[in-house]
Amino acid sequence: MNKDLIGNLDFEKINAKLFDFLDHSPVPFFAVKNMKTALQEAGFTELYESARWQLEAGGAYFVTRNDSALIAFRIPRKDFTGFQIMASHCDSPVFKIKPNADITVENKYVKLNVEKYGGALYASWLDRPLSAAGRVVVETEDGIEAKLVNIDRDLLIIPNLAIHFNRQVNEGYKFNVQKDMLPLLGEISDFSGGQQESLGERPDVDTARSQGDKPKDRFLRLIAKEAGVRPDQILDTDLYLYSRTRACHVGMENEYIVSGRLDDLQCAFSSLQGILLAEPSGSVAVHCVFDNEEVGSGSKQGAGGTFLYDVLHRINASLGRREEDYLRAVASSFMVSADNAHAVHPDHPDKSDPTNRPYMNEGIVIKYNASQKYVTDAVSGAIFRALCKKAGVPCQTFTNRSNLAGGSTLGNIAQGQVSLNAVDIGLAQLAMHSACETAGARDTAFLVEAARVFFSGSVENTGDGKYNLRF
Ligand code: CO
Repeated sequence: MNKDLIGNLDFEKINAKLFDFLDHSPVPFFAVKNMKTALQEAGFTELYESARWQLEAGGAYFVTRNDSALIAFRIPRKDFTGFQIMASHCDSPVFKIKPNADITVENKYVKLNVEKYGGALYASWLDRPLSAAGRVVVETEDGIEAKLVNIDRDLLIIPNLAIHFNRQVNEGYKFNVQKDMLPLLGEISDFSGGQQESLGERPDVDTARSQGDKPKDRFLRLIAKEAGVRPDQILDTDLYLYSRTRACHVGMENEYIVSGRLDDLQCAFSSLQGILLAEPSGSVAVHCVFDNEEVGSGSKQGAGGTFLYDVLHRINASLGRREEDYLRAVASSFMVSADNAHAVHPDHPDKSDPTNRPYMNEGIVIKYNASQKYVTDAVSGAIFRALCKKAGVPCQTFTNRSNLAGGSTLGNIAQGQVSLNAVDIGLAQLAMHSACETAGARDTAFLVEAARVFFSGSVENTGDGKYNLRF
């Protein structure tokens, strides 16, 4: 396995690799594709859910579902006691481009019809270069095929309304996605010379005045060109906006990293590096990245679906083990649900709990919530603290203020499929769900190292409440 990735916590090197991953993973399909490439380069074998699995002790494998969720696992050479699972998510709050997206305005502008995906901070999407990425599904001779597409240039903008038209805007603004968040694609007029004529089009009129007059699918033509297919071959699409701002450092000493999608690609990346560096011994190491966390995880590729359950069962069966062996293994398994956490905000320190105050660069945040939005309890918290101690990385704690509801994540949702000891953790960040989030420059390396130690060890249940920890 590739060992040159962190050495002894090389923060700069790890962040450079993280930046590359963030910049090239505009939507979950690309995050999964980039993880696949890294796993293949490290010698992992790709499996397909539709094919028969013949697994071997000592083997390393991965499987994807919907091209937007991925599970990679490494089987130890000797018989295993359980599964060491780290789960994160690769989707982020964003705007999805609707079918028939073109909207023409005043016989002049073309803008795109979008709807919200998850709970984004809308204002952060305004006045910054955007583009579109996702997948198109095209007709083939035998059926259909999905193709990934990313228009890799500054293409779109959602322009703010000038303050002169809304003098009260800085006192607070209520966004209407259908009115305020539609990105501008370009002009109807023959801007580049002759192109419009060659498309054989006549100018559209404002859609408000042209009921039943289908817009001319300029956007779909652009997407088809990018995908290398004819527009009429495209049967359907899953396309999203993304921010073009590249990941970078900020701060006097480069203390912070800034990028879109840190929630939760920072954790997905750390988990991936951890499994690449690990040396699994007593348990199967399972790196698990789900889609659709930001919209409730209730899809086949989300934490509420059967993906993890199915993969664990197939590992068990393929190695000639019975159902009871599976249940025994789950009792000696552990899940780290890794999703970013809120750091104390420099302008709003009062939003954080009085006694549990996570800061960026101070290590992995263990999250607690009495209502079980976070699944951490005394047992799983203790196991994770012991792990951090062994790994030599700092950890800290998060709870919501008792008067605030706070967020949720995939850990407790996954329990419905595979019920096991689990801890909710994350890396401290600011501006969660902004198009541009801020996190600590040291914390990625801490999680990579904790993940490496976690994936190399095991948690053996020797009676309810008693565990042998082998880290
Ligand atoms: Co998240």
